[in-house]
Amino acid sequence: MDFIHSPTTIADWSAKARREGALVGFVPTMGALHEGHLQLIHRAKRDGHRVVCSIFVNPLQFNNSEDLQNYPRQLEKDRELLLDAGCNALFAPEKEAIFADFTPTNYDLGGLDTYWEGPSRPGHFSGVVNVVERLFHYVRPDFAYFGEKDRQQLTILEHIGRAYRWPELIVPCPTLRAADGLALSSRNARLNAVEREQATILYRALQKVSGSAFKIPVDELLAKALDILATVPEIKVDYFGIADRHKLAPLSDWHDRTEAIALVAAFVGPVRLIDNITLLR
Ligand code: PAJ
Repeated sequence: MDFIHSPTTIADWSAKARREGALVGFVPTMGALHEGHLQLIHRAKRDGHRVVCSIFVNPLQFNNSEDLQNYPRQLEKDRELLLDAGCNALFAPEKEAIFADFTPTNYDLGGLDTYWEGPSRPGHFSGVVNVVERLFHYVRPDFAYFGEKDRQQLTILEHIGRAYRWPELIVPCPTLRAADGLALSSRNARLNAVEREQATILYRALQKVSGSAFKIPVDELLAKALDILATVPEIKVDYFGIADRHKLAPLSDWHDRTEAIALVAAFVGPVRLIDNITLLR
């Protein structure tokens, strides 16, 4: 596996791969890798691509500098995990290099940041889109893999890709879960044993919604989900909602739709967890 810091070197690496007839699959991350990330690498490998993973803790998407400072960094361990996963290149740029001569673009997010994570994280999604554009600019991938775990991020990137005619194809990948249903996240490591057990209620509430979606009215279903969450009073629910799968706007009734999503964010102890599930009729 090649370990590359310089943006121009990864651009050359990618160009060489394409000259050799390969397609480039790209998995952008902020590091502290777990199986959820590695699954994206496996998927890109299975698709037959030359695979690049980036590790870059993007300052533009953090709302406060303490969060940014505290973000876990374990580059050496990540490098080993990527090597084992068969990744072809690790791109770990310096902040100065990736944002050289760069002024962030004010993207039209089409209102997709109005809901859910948006209000509590002003500027976050704009920061994500700006860094992904920078990473794409250097890596020039044919395919880029993103997890459904971060559903709103994925939907916003799909929207921007279409609206701004980015040539890269965005490939959504299902959420990888622990055996008890908890979505894998680097934040789970900060839960103690009791909180880790309590956290499983999030997926149980989502599953309940998935089982009864389109069968009972939306408000009744939401009330049922909140009842389930209330069985663990230690959890502080930030939001639980049912939304249009593509526009992300909250739904108040099903009409004749055949798909939707349910999203949840909650504090379990000190840790804010997010999860979501696709609802299909
Ligand atoms: P990060 O949180 O490191 O996540 C990198 C990718 O891994 C994202 O596409 C995320 O959705 C995916 N992922 C995380 N946990 C997952 C799970 N349990 N199952 C499936 N996929 C999972 O998301 C970011 O970084 C950043 O915002 C980034 C896109 C890199 C821009 O800075």
